[in-house]
Amino acid sequence: MLNGKKVVFSGVQPSGNLTIGNYLGAIRNFGAFSEEYRCFYCVVDMHAITVRQVPADLRRRTYETLALYMAAGLDPAKNTLFVQSQVAAHAELGWILDCFTMFGELSRMTQFKDKSAKNADNINAGLFTYPTLMAADILLYQTELVPVGVDQKQHLELARDIANRFNGLYSDTFVVPEGYIPQNAMKIMSLGDPGVKMSKSDSNQNAVVYILDSKDDILRKFRRAVTDSGCEVCRGEGKDGIGNLMTIYSCFTGKSDEEITREFSGRGYGDFKTAVGEACADGLAGVREEYARLMQDKGYLEEVMRTGAASASAAAQRTLGKVRRKLGFVTL
Ligand code: TYM
Repeated sequence: MLNGKKVVFSGVQPSGNLTIGNYLGAIRNFGAFSEEYRCFYCVVDMHAITVRQVPADLRRRTYETLALYMAAGLDPAKNTLFVQSQVAAHAELGWILDCFTMFGELSRMTQFKDKSAKNADNINAGLFTYPTLMAADILLYQTELVPVGVDQKQHLELARDIANRFNGLYSDTFVVPEGYIPQNAMKIMSLGDPGVKMSKSDSNQNAVVYILDSKDDILRKFRRAVTDSGCEVCRGEGKDGIGNLMTIYSCFTGKSDEEITREFSGRGYGDFKTAVGEACADGLAGVREEYARLMQDKGYLEEVMRTGAASASAAAQRTLGKVRRKLGFVTL
């Protein structure tokens, strides 16, 4: 609780152009909590450097990610929007929690295994301890609820384990957070391979729909989406590609699976793919427009960052102070 309100925290890495997976699985859902909860939404640039980044790109994407938060409906007057590296408490608690996280636990993280396979020449310690920094992000704010896609579930469970461990050793210190995973969009899959998650770091640009893609690009990508040799728009064995398109269509139109199957009965995949592309492009048009407007005013984005960092820092210090005392650090 912070000032009588339960806390929501989530973060997005500015490590690439954001995809409709990030949008549907996470960002789009953030605004719903603003009235009832005290919300912190963070651009996690410190997480991004676990993989090599071009500095100018990282800087640009940090502004872009913040602008996308706002374009997707997050009002900075109602949500604390901030950049992780601007609040030093994340690094401090991250280190402390490293000392309460086991090597074996981190070794079991599937994202670490995937990322080390992809970055075999740079399996750095940060990549390994990434989930402890994520736990610090969450636990610093006494977070109750963490809206994320299902790919973050394992990290979230580790954050809960770390919180429970610390609380067990030093008496109640951290709220033990719960995940909030959207049932309808927990994992948007790649358009090129419906067996893998749509990811901003995918090298196949055609398999990934970016929030800021033009309408033409969106239509083209959906037209090329991998499906199967059948013709019925429904879910089923061997129909993961169509199932994924149904999920995306449903997210943008609110239609149920039955309605979608009825709508495209006897019409074939071509029509369906065009309809998904149209629904997606139209659904994102407002976000794209607002984003373009916000990106014109860097000064304003910096003001949001500055206010957000000050407010996040004040909240974070309350937890950090408690942690320092319990650990036996001398505070002057
Ligand atoms: P990141 O930057 O990879 O993704 C941001 C959010 O988007 C969700 N997501 C998806 N959801 C559905 N389908 C997809 N294909 C898809 N791809 C991504 C992710 O689940 C996430 O919610 N470790 C986090 C960032 C982070 C964080 C945190 C999140 C750092 N600290 C604290 C929550 C709380 C990450 O890499 O997200």
